[in-house]
Amino acid sequence: MINRKINFLAQSGLVPESLAFRLACTTEVICRVINGRSLPHALSTVFSGMAFSPSTRGAIQDISYHVLRNLGLVRFLTEKLTRKPPEPLLLQNLLHCALVLLLPENGILRYEPYTVVDQAVQAAASIRTLSKAKGLVNAVLRRFLREQTDLLEAARQRPEACWNYPAWWIDRIREAYPSDWESILEVGNTPPPLTLRVNRRKSSTDAYIRLANSAGIDAVAIGPCAVKLAHPVPVDKIPGFNDGLVSVQDAAAQLAAPLLNPENGMKVLDACAAPGGKSGHMLEMANIDLLALDCDHWRLQMIHENLERLGLKARTKKGDATKQDWWDKKPFDCILADVPCTASGIIRRHPDIRWLRRPADSQELSALSMRILENLWSMLKPGGKLLLATCSIWPEESEQQARTFSARFGAQRLEAPGQLLPTAKDLIDHDGLFYALFKKT
Ligand SMILES: C[S@@+](CC[C@H](N)C(=O)[O-])C[C@H]1O[C@@H](n2cnc3c(N)ncnc32)[C@H](O)[C@@H]1O
Repeated sequence: MINRKINFLAQSGLVPESLAFRLACTTEVICRVINGRSLPHALSTVFSGMAFSPSTRGAIQDISYHVLRNLGLVRFLTEKLTRKPPEPLLLQNLLHCALVLLLPENGILRYEPYTVVDQAVQAAASIRTLSKAKGLVNAVLRRFLREQTDLLEAARQRPEACWNYPAWWIDRIREAYPSDWESILEVGNTPPPLTLRVNRRKSSTDAYIRLANSAGIDAVAIGPCAVKLAHPVPVDKIPGFNDGLVSVQDAAAQLAAPLLNPENGMKVLDACAAPGGKSGHMLEMANIDLLALDCDHWRLQMIHENLERLGLKARTKKGDATKQDWWDKKPFDCILADVPCTASGIIRRHPDIRWLRRPADSQELSALSMRILENLWSMLKPGGKLLLATCSIWPEESEQQARTFSARFGAQRLEAPGQLLPTAKDLIDHDGLFYALFKKT
């Protein structure tokens, strides 16, 4: 697969700065996502094949996110504009990538429509398996430009095309949140803010906002340690990032550490810890003896990097939170169980998730998370606290799970926010996370 991709892009003869080249690369990225890869994985595979300039990389990334946020609509348009589903998949996805660039965003088009048509035809011509489809690409895109008013009106009648989610996802949100379903779907389609957590050992929100302003960056406090930048900037342009003054973390994710509220000297477990966002926050709050566990070797490395940047220390271990072979048999005062889940609450950051997930995933993941909770509960001291966190909005992974757990193990529930729905307002801007706090009595 990798060789095929490198060959066709490298031998395409297209100039890397051209839109045709960017369309060809984005088409490859989207094909990989449709075949089951996550968007970050698909992007890194395509980028690993050749040397890309930062602007070409940025454009490919940007168009890929844009396509996945509009996939329901461009699929509908392609269906209406072709007599049968275009073959191969690459052709279908080239049409999706080009169509998305013909849709105005807030009334603005990124490129001249005829440039998009011309460059999409050139992209098709440069890909061996698509060269015969040049005429079709040209005809489909020109027909869209002629008939777009009627086509877009028709799309508004089809939920998948109107909301850009699979039909089952829309139905499930409607059922779980009858009065909020539209705003949840809407927020999931908005680009996320860049929110930072200020390291309280080194700075404060006020001082950090002054620092950001002095670097020409507008920022506002949206939580005790949370600062939202007016416009996202690359990580290397975030003031003080390399010195550990701040970490990138959503405002809702910043609630975990204060909820568990570890105190100096406590023995704490972060059982599903990578990349270490919440571990870092707990270590910023108190001098604790923290064990950061994760079953994924590569993700465990990210904990090291993050804690090193923050100047903080924890013990890290590769281990399975459903097992005990990594445990020294000394019970923990506090445990954070940020369990694996469908991530249905963070889709504005990951627009691929809705297209990759299957309806049965939440049941399977909640069964795994129950095994993790049951195992961790036996490692908690009497009087100790366990925080269940998920980045899901499906009740079977969140509130239902918390209730079942509490009833089955006699776990006392303490005050916690429960289900936070994704929200995108000026000062209340966060992902959809769930928190339930338990005490072992
Ligand atoms: C939601 S992420 C954790 C995010 C992290 N708490 C943070 O704030 O940066 C879930 C993590 O659980 C890990 N994981 C999944 N199954 C696990 C298991 N059985 N045991 C330990 N870790 C697991 C994954 O590798 C993943 O890194």
